[in-house]
Amino acid sequence: MLSERMEKALNDQINAEFYSAYLYLAMAAYFESMNLNGFGNWMRVQAQEELTHAMKFYDYVYERGGRVVLAAVDAPPKEWESPLAAFEGAYAHECKVSAMINDLVNIAIEEKDHATNNFLQWFVSEQVEEEASADDVVQKLKLIGDHGNGIFMLDRELGQRVFSAPASGE
Ligand code: FEO
Repeated sequence: MLSERMEKALNDQINAEFYSAYLYLAMAAYFESMNLNGFGNWMRVQAQEELTHAMKFYDYVYERGGRVVLAAVDAPPKEWESPLAAFEGAYAHECKVSAMINDLVNIAIEEKDHATNNFLQWFVSEQVEEEASADDVVQKLKLIGDHGNGIFMLDRELGQRVFSAPASGE
């Protein structure tokens, strides 16, 4: 059984994951408004990933006999100064989410909740990937600078990203 404190913290994380999905969908809309549909595709896939993260937490709370309580999701920004600014925002957001996951692990340890600590380890590893994939695009955009050709090529590359749902039990 989850402690009240753990249950509340997991519910807060469900909200944070839905916010992440909203943020990336807002970034997708920003890119698509500039006809950068490959960038938009990357963000759409990212938003789908965030929904699977939210549902992983949802299912876990349910599995442990807790109560899922959904709160209002904040509105994300709608404009960024440039593609680089948007991806820097995505990278900064992922660093923030990593810190949130670490805080959840700390709570699980304090509550002596080994099952939740074990559950959270998937997210600890996932965040390494989440930070790296956003940073990868940041670095490419920095190299490209203002060269339109580079943006065009990168747009094609990011258009290849496909969503793959995590295997069950993963
Ligand atoms: Fe759910 Fe991008 O972390």
